[in-house]
Amino acid sequence: MFTLNCDRAYLFAHPERELTAEEQVHYEAALNERVRGVPAQYITGHQEFWGMDLIVTPAVLIPRPETEHVIETVLELYKADLRPQTLDLRTSTPDVRSQRSEVELRILDVGTGSGCIALALAKEFLLAEIHATDISAAALEIARANAARHQLEHRIQFHHADLLEGLNLSDLDFIVSNPPYVGESEEDHVQLEVRKFEPRNAVFAGRTGVEVIARLLPQAHAALRPGGWLILEISGTIAGEVDQLLRGWDEVRIIPDLQSIPRVAQARKPRT
Ligand SMILES: C[S@@+](CC[C@H](N)C(=O)[O-])C[C@H]1O[C@@H](n2cnc3c(N)ncnc32)[C@H](O)[C@@H]1O
Repeated sequence: MFTLNCDRAYLFAHPERELTAEEQVHYEAALNERVRGVPAQYITGHQEFWGMDLIVTPAVLIPRPETEHVIETVLELYKADLRPQTLDLRTSTPDVRSQRSEVELRILDVGTGSGCIALALAKEFLLAEIHATDISAAALEIARANAARHQLEHRIQFHHADLLEGLNLSDLDFIVSNPPYVGESEEDHVQLEVRKFEPRNAVFAGRTGVEVIARLLPQAHAALRPGGWLILEISGTIAGEVDQLLRGWDEVRIIPDLQSIPRVAQARKPRT
């Protein structure tokens, strides 16, 4: 599909199609890159997330399917906690889309990388004010390109920042983040492809893996409104420690992914 720049249907519909000499060279070059260990997404330059085709380069982490649990958690909390409880009179069932647009949420995505989380939330919450930060200027360029690709560039404000430093944001409803959370002491257990090809500051947080989260928590606490939510992607390795760090927050919950690995931490800033 990458070599021919076609979709899967074309591939199945044209089994007789032979590669031209030029296509053959293109195909073999891609295969050689893959043999060298380069992730397929960096070769094709694309990855799907939340139904969107995103551009990826080695400047950004390749969005992972389990990160979609972060989006699902925000949607669930919104539905349970913030969505106005009105009914669509025609069907007597909640009209999710129009209700979603009724509340003007303020959302921040910390460490946006390709922009996948911020874009997915911009698609889901039509009136939300959305901010996204990254410490990497190169990553922010890709996130901006992805926003433009999906006509969301006017919906998201991108900031080059170390976590929330210098942002002057307050009264946020949600802070979401898939921060770097792998400890340098675990480096030997990390897939070689990740270690060799994905940006180091997107994956590794410090010696134990909680260093970035530990810095993020007080900054997030200060920027959330009372009752606002912090949603973090985490791993099984750091789940216990994150749970400890979230003492003093309300409604802390560690949510497993489809493989039953602790994957999302939710916590609410106390109302008083
Ligand atoms: C695990 S990646 C997540 C990227 C994207 N949100 C995703 O889910 O695929 C972490 C991101 O955080 C950024 N980052 C690392 N340290 C940071 C910091 N101190 N402040 C802001 N962003 C940071 C990295 O550049 C990287 O883009």
